[in-house]
Amino acid sequence: MQVEIVEDYIDISKKAAEIVKTQIKDNPSSVIGFATGDTPKGMYRELIKLYNNGEVDFADIKAFNLDEYYGLPKENPQSYHYYMMKNLFDFVNIKKENINIPNGMAESIEKECEEYEKKIQEVGGIDLQVLGIGRNGHIGFNEPDLKFEAETHFVELDEDTIKANSRFFHSIEEVPIKAISMGIKTIMQARKIILLAFGKEKGEVIYKAIKGEITPEIPASILQLHPNVTVIVDKETASFL
Ligand code: PGA
Repeated sequence: MQVEIVEDYIDISKKAAEIVKTQIKDNPSSVIGFATGDTPKGMYRELIKLYNNGEVDFADIKAFNLDEYYGLPKENPQSYHYYMMKNLFDFVNIKKENINIPNGMAESIEKECEEYEKKIQEVGGIDLQVLGIGRNGHIGFNEPDLKFEAETHFVELDEDTIKANSRFFHSIEEVPIKAISMGIKTIMQARKIILLAFGKEKGEVIYKAIKGEITPEIPASILQLHPNVTVIVDKETASFL
């Protein structure tokens, strides 16, 4: 694992956006795995700037998101579909047909998971996966567990995740308790991974993820076994390392 310590959140966002830009420049039809949450918002803002300056072209990329809440329609402002449109896709030239996000309203959740996984495999897997990390060590919605969950699957969200995500909802009761998430194997098959974290509240978990024991209780710790991971953190997070 390569750990890059930068000054602050803006620098994390810029560095991450540069990595995405380089990936797309090297291979304009790259398959990129995107993440939601607060962490990558700055990276998306930087990517929109780069796009507006003509420095990056999304015309041929394929996007696959890590996860989606179960039971929220696309149009719901809390859905990850909505998030991706409003934070990136509405502002760049990605083709609609190249946007892939699990359908949280699918009639058969098992079939949706299977088909999502198949789609990722059919395009040859993910070239670059962007990850945030939950305070409980989750990546995507792979919650702490007794085993690593391999492929795209149906998830019951952890109490800690529900609590953390309630900040985006009017009340904790509105937070979906189920979701669809790429699995650990799906993520680990990505050829390159960047993991972003900032602030003191992520310090302890980043320490456990990159220096602690590899255990499904800290799902991100599996990344220690991946050959090409860059962890980008600010000074506050890094003070725990
Ligand atoms: P955050 O979420 O970026 O909003 O902190 C990260 C995550 O839960 O994966």
